[in-house]
Amino acid sequence: EFHKEPKELHLASNGPFGRFDKQQLQRGFQVYKEVCSGCHSLNRVAFRDLHALGYNEAEVKAIANQWPTEVASINPETGEPATRKAIPSDYFPSPYANETAGRAANNNALPPDLSLMAKAREGGAAYIYSLLTGYQNQPAALLKEFPTAKTPAGLHYNPYFANLNLAMPQPLTSEGQVTYAPGNPKPTVDQMAKDVAAFLVWTAEPNLQGRHKAGWPVILFLIVATILAYLSYRNIWAEAK
Ligand code: HEM
Repeated sequence: EFHKEPKELHLASNGPFGRFDKQQLQRGFQVYKEVCSGCHSLNRVAFRDLHALGYNEAEVKAIANQWPTEVASINPETGEPATRKAIPSDYFPSPYANETAGRAANNNALPPDLSLMAKAREGGAAYIYSLLTGYQNQPAALLKEFPTAKTPAGLHYNPYFANLNLAMPQPLTSEGQVTYAPGNPKPTVDQMAKDVAAFLVWTAEPNLQGRHKAGWPVILFLIVATILAYLSYRNIWAEAK
């Protein structure tokens, strides 16, 4: 009874006519880059996929080249494992060298890859938005009913998370944490949470818009085909008594 359903979230990509709002996706990418990527990878999204959000070749190259985490590679001389700067064909790397390092930095929880998170959780983008804006103190009523259920040290209470306490500290905490380019909405916590949720819809289904665009002509075609089939049925059986 203390667990909450996701809040409502209206995104341009919602519904059968949904389209991506590229401005918003760029803001969401900025939030991912400046906040989330400190812990989470996007290992199904390559730097060059950012072209779809409106970044040009030089910008994509620069983003990859300046990415704070290097990608796994091998030293061509010794054959030993090594790292190198990212290039556009690389995927957004995890900041941790391996699972042990990831857990060590996060109270033994592993930050999951976010590529498909908008598909993986019930509620999708609305869940992500709710989770990011849902951190709060444990309600007194909960402690009254379950006195031993106090949030353990190192975990954080969030009523949108299935088991109420999660290892991720509140990532978006203050307005202006990320600076948006002029002409964009104010970077309030709410706005940043919406934007990164919208961005994660795109990472999970970059071809959503194409699917929506293809769907309507297909349905129109099927309607026309149905009418023709009905008319030819009438025609073929017209003489039969
Ligand atoms: C889990 C999103 C930033 C550490 C998660 C989950 C999501 C998420 C959707 C999965 C929750 C679930 O399993 O249902 C984000 C977004 C971020 C962000 C959008 C940026 C705005 C961070 C940062 C850290 C972090 C900066 C590290 C300081 C974790 C950890 C978990 C987690 C450890 C696993 C929690 C658990 O299973 O208890 N995050 N995250 N996240 N995140 Fe983040």
